[in-house]
Amino acid sequence: MHQMLLVLLSLNNMKFFTDFKEKLNGAFAFSNPRQSANTALNILERRRQQRRLRSRPVVVQVEVTSRCNLNCFICSRSSTPFIGKNLNKELIEPVVDLSKYSRELVLFGYGEPLIAKPFYQLLAKAKSGRISFVTNGLALNPRITQKILATSRRPIYSISFSIDGASPDTYNSIREKSDFERVWTNLTELSKQLKNRSYPKLWIDFVIMKRNAAELPQLVRKAAGLGVDRINVFNIVVWDRAHTDESLIWYPDLAAKSFASARAEAQEANIRLDLPVIPDKNKSQPNTQAKFCHDPWSYTYIRQDGTVQACCFTDKFYMGNLKEQSFEAIWNNKAYQTLRTSVNSSNPPVVCRHCEQRWREVNSNDDNSIYLKLRPKNLV
Ligand SMILES: C[S@@+](CC[C@H](N)C(=O)[O-])C[C@H]1O[C@@H](n2cnc3c(N)ncnc32)[C@H](O)[C@@H]1O
Ligand code: SF4
Repeated sequence: MHQMLLVLLSLNNMKFFTDFKEKLNGAFAFSNPRQSANTALNILERRRQQRRLRSRPVVVQVEVTSRCNLNCFICSRSSTPFIGKNLNKELIEPVVDLSKYSRELVLFGYGEPLIAKPFYQLLAKAKSGRISFVTNGLALNPRITQKILATSRRPIYSISFSIDGASPDTYNSIREKSDFERVWTNLTELSKQLKNRSYPKLWIDFVIMKRNAAELPQLVRKAAGLGVDRINVFNIVVWDRAHTDESLIWYPDLAAKSFASARAEAQEANIRLDLPVIPDKNKSQPNTQAKFCHDPWSYTYIRQDGTVQACCFTDKFYMGNLKEQSFEAIWNNKAYQTLRTSVNSSNPPVVCRHCEQRWREVNSNDDNSIYLKLRPKNLV
């Protein structure tokens, strides 16, 4: 059915149809009939804003470890007491079970996935339609890439490298214990290895702040030269008071200049660039105009200790623990039902009113299209 629709749509190159085709691919590519049915039911249930769901989450994110080989100053790991641990062994099977229904299993949390055994165990066992992950890239040399591609039972949809600078000095000043040249070499090698493959898509995640904003356009140019598919830019979340000055809320002009120039580079190089809104301290009031959030219906986040969170941006939405209860019991419990009732109401939880994801300026039609729908109409 999905294939037939794609064939029909390929006959027509009108923008509406190509956008729709991309959306369809984003929603169903690599899913088996059970996963496609789950996605379809999930869309229906979330459209109805149902509190109790028969469908399971479409996207499941798992923190395979909270250990890390770096010590980035931007990371909340650096500013909170943090004990690094791998995903608890007894959680592997419950995650595999859940993955039978999900379109995508996302394998990272607060930590570096590639250094953790559960990452490879889940690659080998997962039953989700597809897999994706974000890495600091330091360990992703050609040997590890081969290992990942050989181990993964399911197609890997995207690999995101976190690279927050175009020069060694800037990048290394953010990512303590990393090595810009090595990460860039790994990215270059990976792009060569993936050259004749449609998947995995190769992405870069760039956390933008005062010290690296001016380097974004250069990074776009360099990445396009390597055949990177897309660059996602995120505003820095400041965890430590000492780094407040890095936030671009104090420097909207710097942000605007960087974004404009990066956009022009991206257009010329024909690479997709997803930018956040230009942060502005005068616009930080609670926003009740924001469009719908889909996460309490379509997404769940399982931490290494079994904690289930409804959102990866805040630990305020603790829903239960997978070591104590089945996922099915948690998914429709009181905490989840309460959140589903309030998140898109006129009186959402305070953290949701400040959520940047509800303000992201994204021209995406695939997974991130949830954010496109959330974009307030007055922001273009
Ligand atoms: C926590 S890391 C885990 C994966 C891996 N260790 C890495 O660095 O890519 C996931 C993503 O969060 C981003 N990140 C870390 N600290 C951040 C902050 N303060 N604000 C926004 N994004 C942040 C990282 O750059 C990375 O892209
Ligand atoms: S590499 Fe990732 S998890 Fe590790 S400290 Fe940096 S941002 Fe945090």
